[in-house]
Amino acid sequence: MTRKCHANEASWTHGENSLGHMGIVSSRTSLWVIRKYAVLALAALRREGVYNGLGQLVVQWSFDRRHGLSAFLPREVRHEASEPEFRISDAMQYQGVDPRLALETLNWLPMELRSNATFVDYGCGKGRGLAVGILAGFRQLIGVEVSRDLATLAERNLQTLRLRHPGVRIELQTMDAVRFQPPEGPLVVFLYNPFVGLTLERVVQRLADHATRSPVYVVYINPRGRSAFLDHGFRQCAAWPGSQALVLESGLTSEVLQGRSLGPRITTARSVTSE
Ligand SMILES: C[S@@+](CC[C@H](N)C(=O)[O-])C[C@H]1O[C@@H](n2cnc3c(N)ncnc32)[C@H](O)[C@@H]1O
Repeated sequence: MTRKCHANEASWTHGENSLGHMGIVSSRTSLWVIRKYAVLALAALRREGVYNGLGQLVVQWSFDRRHGLSAFLPREVRHEASEPEFRISDAMQYQGVDPRLALETLNWLPMELRSNATFVDYGCGKGRGLAVGILAGFRQLIGVEVSRDLATLAERNLQTLRLRHPGVRIELQTMDAVRFQPPEGPLVVFLYNPFVGLTLERVVQRLADHATRSPVYVVYINPRGRSAFLDHGFRQCAAWPGSQALVLESGLTSEVLQGRSLGPRITTARSVTSE
């Protein structure tokens, strides 16, 4: 993932819609998408090998089709005039989460937590993480996204799942995550490496403050900023092989997760040594 703003990004405003609904994109957008996907595909192939790398792309594509999403294509983040304090240098570009890994991680949490806690996807992009949250059984979900375009796409993407899960409350907040005040009560924070640096630091600070009143769990995929949580008193309670995903808990949560049996892909915090 890059953190640079891209000059071509304005051409993205209708890019995914055209692609998703008409199968056409402008040549400038096509070139950007092809380049982006070539880089992502190569990285996936190098990391996972040909079979698993291609398999992952197929999993993402078929997940989107099954649940009425159009969340496959990456997109650069841009400055929003409404958010003068937004630190674009901290922001990661949009890329949808691997739904299999996200679901496995969320399913590890106790069921009672999934029905009681508010699920917050910081940097929800086009809404794939929220879709996984709904499928994992959360009843109250909030997506926070700085980009107005992406939040609009997320709203559209979640229409099918809203109809299929009428009792579920989904809210989208278009704002810099730094300004977002989470609702009172237990939280499950979902992060697919949305931002780093001071932005992450401020969000973690707010979550640590929240954790003095209510339990906070953090499901962190591609956890580049793990140390920010550890520095604020969170504890790592589970990690997936290669540290591709972690679950962290605040001080108030330990009894709830104690005694959880770990799935076969999970190793305990003690056996994870690298960041
Ligand atoms: C890697 S994507 C995560 C996508 C989504 N969570 C998912 O799981 O599919 C990172 C997202 O974070 C958003 N983002 C970056 N900085 C942000 C900030 N300060 N406030 C809110 N959203 C931010 C980007 O616009 C992008 O959509």
